[in-house]
Amino acid sequence: MDKNNKLVALVTGATGGIGSAICKKLADQGYTVVANYRNLAKAQEWQNAMKAAGYNFAIFEGDVTSYESVGGMVAKIEAEVGSVDILVNNAGITKDGRFLKMSPEQWREVMSTNLDSVFNCTRHVIGKMVERGFGRIINISSVNGQRGQFGQTNYSAAKAGMHGFTKSLAMEVADKGVTVNTLSPGYIGTDMVMAVKEEIRNQIIAGIPVKRLGTPDEIASAVVYLSSDAAGFMTGANLSINGGQHVY
Ligand code: CAA
Repeated sequence: MDKNNKLVALVTGATGGIGSAICKKLADQGYTVVANYRNLAKAQEWQNAMKAAGYNFAIFEGDVTSYESVGGMVAKIEAEVGSVDILVNNAGITKDGRFLKMSPEQWREVMSTNLDSVFNCTRHVIGKMVERGFGRIINISSVNGQRGQFGQTNYSAAKAGMHGFTKSLAMEVADKGVTVNTLSPGYIGTDMVMAVKEEIRNQIIAGIPVKRLGTPDEIASAVVYLSSDAAGFMTGANLSINGGQHVY
């Protein structure tokens, strides 16, 4: 039996493009993967599609913008599956627009889904990780949190904020066997990127040295690495996977 079978990985925003790839790759490595969702109908459809592809994922309802909702979800996961050893903070949204036109709602929704969520989810699982002397927190940020993007003051602020969180928490729990890292994907071929107008998207792709969008699997492979024992000395890091779009 693979030793990873005993480790439980919680992936937020699991039903999206990158989230699905992360769930599958972690399951391939023998982790017990639990998937967070907010929309039941979409999650059930996703669960059935995963089953058809040979993956059996338990799904757990939780609104990552709510501390109380996440608390209830984590308690249920602990009772039904076990304590969370690996947390992948992957849930995220965009509400793009020029700052001059940005509404307070556009700002708040993106900050709460993309950044408050990181506090809410991490806060509920970190105590037990510290007690057990092992844990992995993996925050899925973005190249646009590193370099900025026209039309994304809200998203870039939240994604940059994630890495500030990563660096500080990494210092606090490093001696407890818990690592905290950020992974910053560039433009990946998911619904989120495909929602950008084709003309703008093509201009963006032309500016990526590798000359293509990344794939969800290319991100998921790095999550597998960060989850592993081999990555035990990597903490507080920001891993860039962006086709050379932002080098520094
Ligand atoms: N640099 C400079 N000026 C720009 C610009 C840019 N990159 N993009 C647009 N503009 C200018 C236009 O030329 C135009 O100027 P004029 O008014 O002088 O003609 C003006 O901005 C258009 O402004 P509007 O407010 O009317 O813009 P819009 O409604 O047409 O669209 C936008 C604005 C929604 C931000 C659009 O430009 C856009 O979708 N940009 C891409 C945003 C993006 O990359 N989002 C990433 C989503 S995927 C993701 O986030 C995943 C990840 O992590 C990578």
